[in-house]
Amino acid sequence: MEELKQKLSDILKPDKKNRRHLIYLLQAVQQKSGYLSKEAMLAIADFLDIPGSTVYGIATFYNQFRFTPLGKHPVKVCMGTACHLVGGKLVLEAMARELDIEVGGITPDHEFSLDRVACVGCCALAPVVVIGDSVYPKMTPPKVEEALVIIKPVSQEQSEKQ
Ligand code: FES
Repeated sequence: MEELKQKLSDILKPDKKNRRHLIYLLQAVQQKSGYLSKEAMLAIADFLDIPGSTVYGIATFYNQFRFTPLGKHPVKVCMGTACHLVGGKLVLEAMARELDIEVGGITPDHEFSLDRVACVGCCALAPVVVIGDSVYPKMTPPKVEEALVIIKPVSQEQSEKQ
């Protein structure tokens, strides 16, 4: 715990030692680590001197937080209004089916993780998926498979070389 607190010392600063900063602390830790581990949530609880169950309860209330690490290729399906209106939900379902994981999950080989996100800022291209740093515009369920087929072989080759 002390080691983790040390690692998070740039976030768990004395001026943030107040329960009203809980959401900020959760966001900052997720930003830094890519997700909220059980240990990180307990470190925040200890820092704020509140029960771990309170931190967990609040973190799980908001769908902006994830509780498993990000994959090597984080897949983010935009569920902002523009994307939602033109089939974002179908794209998200197709992505979950294709990767065989649930939203917030990660594939067993740690290659892909899947999240729904709010507007990524390119509504004219809706529905949008972001995989790593690449934006995939005007997505449809069949295009989901195409996008992943392009990434998977490259990713597998790199894994074999390592
Ligand atoms: S709502 Fe999806 S990019 Fe804006």
